[in-house]
Amino acid sequence: MNIKAEKIAGYNGLTNAEPTLPGSHYVDPDHYAKELGAIWYKNWIYLCRASSLERPLSYRTFTIGTQKVLLLRDENGELRAYHNTCRHRGSVLCTSDEGRLKSKLITCPYHNWAYSTAGELVRTPSLAMPDGFKLSDYPLYDIALAEWGGFVFINLAGTDAIDFEGTFERDNAGLANWPLDDLVSGHVYQKTVACNWKVFWENFSECLHCPNLHPELSALVPIYGRSIIAEGDDPNWADHAGDSDPKFKGGLRLNAQTWSMDGEVHGARFDALTPKEQKAGQTYVTNLPSVFVVGHVDYVRVVRVLPIGPELTELHSEWLFPAASLEDPNFDMANITDFATLVLDQDADACEMNQQGLHCERHDTGVLMPEEYYVHMFHEWVRGQLGT
Ligand code: FES
Ligand SMILES: [Fe+2]
Repeated sequence: MNIKAEKIAGYNGLTNAEPTLPGSHYVDPDHYAKELGAIWYKNWIYLCRASSLERPLSYRTFTIGTQKVLLLRDENGELRAYHNTCRHRGSVLCTSDEGRLKSKLITCPYHNWAYSTAGELVRTPSLAMPDGFKLSDYPLYDIALAEWGGFVFINLAGTDAIDFEGTFERDNAGLANWPLDDLVSGHVYQKTVACNWKVFWENFSECLHCPNLHPELSALVPIYGRSIIAEGDDPNWADHAGDSDPKFKGGLRLNAQTWSMDGEVHGARFDALTPKEQKAGQTYVTNLPSVFVVGHVDYVRVVRVLPIGPELTELHSEWLFPAASLEDPNFDMANITDFATLVLDQDADACEMNQQGLHCERHDTGVLMPEEYYVHMFHEWVRGQLGT
């Protein structure tokens, strides 16, 4: 049917044949550099759970595009973030992914300039100081930091950073009833995917690929098996308005309660969820460009995306549980973690497949189908960020 002819009330689908972003925007190093500057170094970027730096003086390092970030917990328990770059001649300061400072000083491994955890240059090993040199002129480059629900975000725009409040869909979105601060990490998945970071978000934004690539997920969430995400994605939705079958209404298949291999709850259930949240099966909150969080009735999963090259993206997924689940010796965590691992691997393969084809010299733009309205929203967001 031609949807354009008659826009149907309550229908979500795109009515115009919207072009995708140009193929070159997924492979061109210059365009990638432009996106790093306009998007990744301007927005709030999710790094990790605050609880992953529990002890004073523990640190972690991260790479966002070309930027090296050092996150540490100081001796007073405060989190701090700096560019992982020495003010002397620019060496990285901490060379491991994670560790613990040996003292209250951050000492550069190259010529031993030493900084306090507050970022002040405390000493250099030089026998004499040059004229006009003041230690206080060379503090570490500090980075804006914010915490929400136990999640740590940074913003590389420094004092120009946009306000963190309001950037995350957290006031209006559905995770207020999940005890995010108290959750404990039980499992981590990390993969380097050979695709541009935008390919990940496009894949995340549609279910046109679900019947093809996610047979298990399509069986668990029957509406996904119809290539759509929500009731209103079907132009004929009104014909089934009175039908409660999840294949029309969304939500999990009959008798399933969560995303797990057997559809069963494992461990403790969150007790403050509304009946609607329990029935939904999955509740997503997204903060472009780096993270989405999905709440289920028995766990929460946080997926972080970081660009590490024009065609290389680091995908990181962490499963967060109530402490009681992890303390239960009979807790079948694998039943939960195996499921999304399967889906993530399928999506990672799809992203790599997509990336390879994008090199075609003759592929200027592709075109979006009605079900891909979220992909269009993502493209509009990217265009807006780039000012194009
Ligand atoms: S570069 Fe760090 S002390 Fe020289
Ligand atoms: Fe997928």
